[in-house]
Amino acid sequence: MYLSAMGSEAISLSTERLLLRPMRATDIDATVAALDDLEVSRRLARVPHPYTERDARAFLAIVERGRVDGAMEHFVLVRGDDPMDRAIGAIGVHGEPGGTVAEVGYWIARPHWGNGYAREALAAVVRRSFFERTPSIALLTAHVHETNRASMHVLVACGFVETGSRIASCAATGVDVPAIEFELRRA
Ligand SMILES: CC(C)(COP(=O)(O)OP(=O)(O)OC[C@H]1O[C@@H](n2cnc3c(N)ncnc32)[C@H](O)[C@@H]1OP(=O)(O)O)[C@@H](O)C(=O)NCCC(=O)NCCS
Repeated sequence: MYLSAMGSEAISLSTERLLLRPMRATDIDATVAALDDLEVSRRLARVPHPYTERDARAFLAIVERGRVDGAMEHFVLVRGDDPMDRAIGAIGVHGEPGGTVAEVGYWIARPHWGNGYAREALAAVVRRSFFERTPSIALLTAHVHETNRASMHVLVACGFVETGSRIASCAATGVDVPAIEFELRRA
């Protein structure tokens, strides 16, 4: 993996198969197509259903604010071999500006599930958060609906451990669901 600066604070990461790069307005259509799928959004906390262009534009503004104030690092995932540079997923790390504890969240568009992309992206973001960011993150957290076995696999494969449970909200369904909490501490 290598890092490249693409602007003031806009960072990209490369992995074996993926480029993790800042979200842009040109990612709106792919983001809407992926997140307007209830099979994706019902597993996420803050994504409404239906999911519209307006929602994606509002989220892009949040991402840009988070980059400026240091509260969020967010990447869209594109396949390194895609000349069209199309977003197939996203991953974000958010916390208090300048803080050392942050929560990670991610999604992959349904046609691309099962290829190991989430694991590859999360591993890259863990390395970046612990060893390359300033200030570096000391503790990453995540929470997963208790039926979301695929996401738990991804977290455990990247070293996260289960720490507890809680009830989580879901904007897409409006239904609160039991969730498992995970964390990974920097060694
Ligand atoms: C969860 C999600 C990100 C996984 O993305 P992905 O790129 O398909 O994940 P990966 O291919 O890297 O890994 C999935 C792992 O779960 C396993 N898995 C998939 N479906 C499973 C299931 N129903 N039960 C158990 N394990 C499952 C896969 O075998 C794989 O494990 P392995 O690498 O040990 O074989 C994707 O399904 C998604 O976007 N879901 C909707 C949004 C979401 O759940 N986000 C996370 C919220 S916490």
